[in-house]
Amino acid sequence: MTIRLIIDCDTGTDDAVAIMAAVCHSELELVAVTTVNGNVPLSNTTENSLRVLDHLGSRVGVYAGAPRPIMRPDFPIPRDVLNGDEPAFQIPYLDLPASKTSVQEQGAVSYLIDYYMDDANLDTVLVATGPLTNVALALAAEPRLASRIPQLVLMGGSRGWGNVTAVAEFNIWVDPEAAESVLGAGIRDVTVVPLNATHSAQITLEDCDLFDAIGTPAAIASSQIIRQRILNYPDAPDAVKRSAPVHDAICIAYLVRPDVLEDVGRYRVHVETTGTHTLGEMVIDTRLWSDSVPNARVALRANAQIFSAFLSDAFRD
Ligand code: RIB
Ligand code: CA
Repeated sequence: MTIRLIIDCDTGTDDAVAIMAAVCHSELELVAVTTVNGNVPLSNTTENSLRVLDHLGSRVGVYAGAPRPIMRPDFPIPRDVLNGDEPAFQIPYLDLPASKTSVQEQGAVSYLIDYYMDDANLDTVLVATGPLTNVALALAAEPRLASRIPQLVLMGGSRGWGNVTAVAEFNIWVDPEAAESVLGAGIRDVTVVPLNATHSAQITLEDCDLFDAIGTPAAIASSQIIRQRILNYPDAPDAVKRSAPVHDAICIAYLVRPDVLEDVGRYRVHVETTGTHTLGEMVIDTRLWSDSVPNARVALRANAQIFSAFLSDAFRD
């Protein structure tokens, strides 16, 4: 039974690997890609998504979405300040040939609404691997989507630490109001893949050697992208750079291999939208005695071997 999905993303490097796995895996059918401001500006995330799909000869449509968060004019710390010290990590354009395919005329938010208001599409999983601005806007414009999107899998958040501030993960931090709104919308099946999971299932240089040996366009491109991530990952100065998290692709692996996620629990999840030091923090209520009603399944660990094997299987297809 083929699993249909839409990826809403801010293509960057790990989003690119997620798209390639979704296009190539025989058990998956990528219906569309919707793009959002995030890793890089919207025009870049859109061009990068087009480049990845062109690289694979895929005719999947790309729909451009929000160029900025729903309430804020920019990131809580403006992008040029935030990225000032790590320009090499998220490169503006993926190292693939410029796109030949054009972005769709219809916008991402309108597309998501039209798609899920069609009863023929109520099997399609929505996978969000960037800030949740598009998803929040679609839910605000058409609240019935909350009961029509069958499953949302999102890469974002963390428990206990962050990658953009001491407590906040990038996707959630970029647009905390959007994240809180999506988590509170009432979508019946939400799975959160936070940094705790993605950092526990890193892809290694040895995995990249395996991908190179597979030799398909997706395998070779993903190996190159992941090697660049390993080389540039902001790690401890003396760290032995042999692996890096490939956050977004774990969301795709989960659709085919749910056992890739471990230490999974159902919890009430909120996002801080006003904290001075905690803005964008994902608050996961794991108290055993909590009387809060869970709104998401959260994985606090992932399995590196299953993740790597999933990518190899996808790239071989
Ligand atoms: O914090 C990691 C997430 O932020 C990933 O989705 C990465 O692509 C960026 O969007
Ligand atoms: Ca992303």
